[in-house]
Amino acid sequence: MSLQNPSKRLMAPDITAKKGVEAIVSLTSYHAHTAAIADKYCDFLLVGDSLGMVMHGYDTTVPVPLELMIMHGKAVVRGAKRALVVIDMPFGTYEESPSVAFRNAARVMKETDCGAVKIEGGRRMAETIHFLVDRGVPVMAHIGLTPQSINVIGGFKAQGREQAQWAAIEEDARRVAEAGAFAVVLEAMTEPLAAKITAAIAIPTIGIGAGAGCDGQILVMEDMLGLSPRVPKFVKEFGKIGAAIEGAIRGYAEEVRAGTFPASEHTYAVRETAPGVVHPPHRVTKKPKIPST
Ligand code: KIV
Repeated sequence: MSLQNPSKRLMAPDITAKKGVEAIVSLTSYHAHTAAIADKYCDFLLVGDSLGMVMHGYDTTVPVPLELMIMHGKAVVRGAKRALVVIDMPFGTYEESPSVAFRNAARVMKETDCGAVKIEGGRRMAETIHFLVDRGVPVMAHIGLTPQSINVIGGFKAQGREQAQWAAIEEDARRVAEAGAFAVVLEAMTEPLAAKITAAIAIPTIGIGAGAGCDGQILVMEDMLGLSPRVPKFVKEFGKIGAAIEGAIRGYAEEVRAGTFPASEHTYAVRETAPGVVHPPHRVTKKPKIPST
């Protein structure tokens, strides 16, 4: 990632232009604070509908409502200043027709100020991708394992394990690229297939469980932080945040029960005032210290 112009937010064409130049780095992000951290290192942040499973306890992404995507999308746009923010269109908000897709995508863009949307599906979504891009909505495509189709696929299964399946997946990639997608996510597919697709199309491929031959990589942030209780085979845990959180909560609980927290430094002193003296209105001369809650 270049830090040449840190004040400028990346746009969809900037991501496309990275193909063959530098690896594209991205993560999912669902809230403002982690978005602000990831923003320093990522080219784009995806407000993925995986937030339904990661943050809200759904078993699949299918029940996620548009309003939830918009709410988390606003938070991420507020937190990230430089990375392109891409928001997932959830199941049922774009498949019916190009005009329904446009209405919902335009709502997402207007309400969140994000820079692009992502939709799942290959050639079946090509007409919709063309319709959206033609009307000012940058689209990231998503092929291979498409979790919104879990009930048709029959599970979170890797795609293209048999070479006989490759032609259809390659055709999906070609068609979404021709339709005007600025990049395409390749989820859970064999490494040689993803590398073949990457070499064959003009837009960047963003791999998740698709090996090192892609133009960029994405992971679900909570998975790579070590916060998710179960992760797919393709995830590398770069942190142990789940264990750190548990350690902190255990320490807090122990101290409350032992009566050692709060200590005197965590309490407010009574102000000394002469009888009858009223304090003048409080003037803030520097940034006030916010007591931690
Ligand atoms: O919803 C999501 O997090 C995604 C990624 C897996 C690419 O679509």
